[in-house]
Amino acid sequence: MGGGRFTGAPVVVLGGAGVLGAACARAFAREGASVAIGYRSSANAAEELAAELGAAGGSTFAGRADVTDAESLRGFLAAAATAIGGIEVLVNAFGRIDAADAVRFDATDPAAWDELFKVDVRGTFLACQLALPWLRQAEKPAIVNFAGSYGNGTNQENLVNSVSVSFCAAKGAVRGFTAALARDLAPHIRVNAISPGMIEANWDADWNIPAEHLAEAKAATPLQRMGYPDEIAESVLYLASPGGGYTTGQILQVDGGWLMPG
Ligand SMILES: NC(=O)c1ccc[n+]([C@@H]2O[C@H](COP(=O)([O-])OP(=O)(O)OC[C@H]3O[C@@H](n4cnc5c(N)ncnc54)[C@H](OP(=O)(O)O)[C@@H]3O)[C@@H](O)[C@H]2O)c1
Repeated sequence: MGGGRFTGAPVVVLGGAGVLGAACARAFAREGASVAIGYRSSANAAEELAAELGAAGGSTFAGRADVTDAESLRGFLAAAATAIGGIEVLVNAFGRIDAADAVRFDATDPAAWDELFKVDVRGTFLACQLALPWLRQAEKPAIVNFAGSYGNGTNQENLVNSVSVSFCAAKGAVRGFTAALARDLAPHIRVNAISPGMIEANWDADWNIPAEHLAEAKAATPLQRMGYPDEIAESVLYLASPGGGYTTGQILQVDGGWLMPG
């Protein structure tokens, strides 16, 4: 059980059926929030998650929200706000995860580049802009965007922590957008981003990552392991909570020490 940090607060998680989005939805629900889950294609997973959270006592909502389509997003946000009583927190946990974005620079397809930016960058812009009417009416509104911290690996063949130029460019745009938006929407609405490092997943089966590349990536990470989805969710809770009330325009690295700006 959580500590009731979000009791009764209406929270929207876009990409809420994904690994990190679902962890966030569960974490907010544990803290007493009413959670709306937006999905693009994972309707069953989203409905099941909403039912799970609803069974635990909270009010929940699930609906289709394709962030590349303003009408889809607008319709979802209106229905979600009606169902859960407004929007106090917006979590943009979606992202294009596609093999076409996991290649070296010379093999990057311009169409894949455009699609990645359409989802991760333009989608984040659209979601923030379309949620504004509700966020402006909320008492302590907060936005949490999803960037990504890895991409600084020195073995260019190791996709775990070298990561493609296009992915790094898109997440860099999300970081810049987050900082600029935080200034634009201050003092009422706080805007931050989470920047996850390597998170536990089926890297070998889903991405054909050789075991030695996984070992190399862990060895180069000060905490010597991958992160867990709950560690990302807890960090998102902090950024969105009253305890994070003096934090805005920040990019929180949750990556086992992979990047240490210090
Ligand atoms: N996991 C990591 O290691 C890691 C590291 C760094 C950054 N990140 C970032 O963290 C975020 C979440 O990633 P994840 O690991 O949870 O991946 P995931 O499980 O694949 O989830 C990504 C979600 O994005 C949604 N999505 C994709 N295109 C969309 C669109 N056009 N409209 C709405 N939703 C869309 C998908 O929805 P449907 O399933 O409904 O299609 C999916 O649920 C992403 O931004 C990712 O880049 C992850």
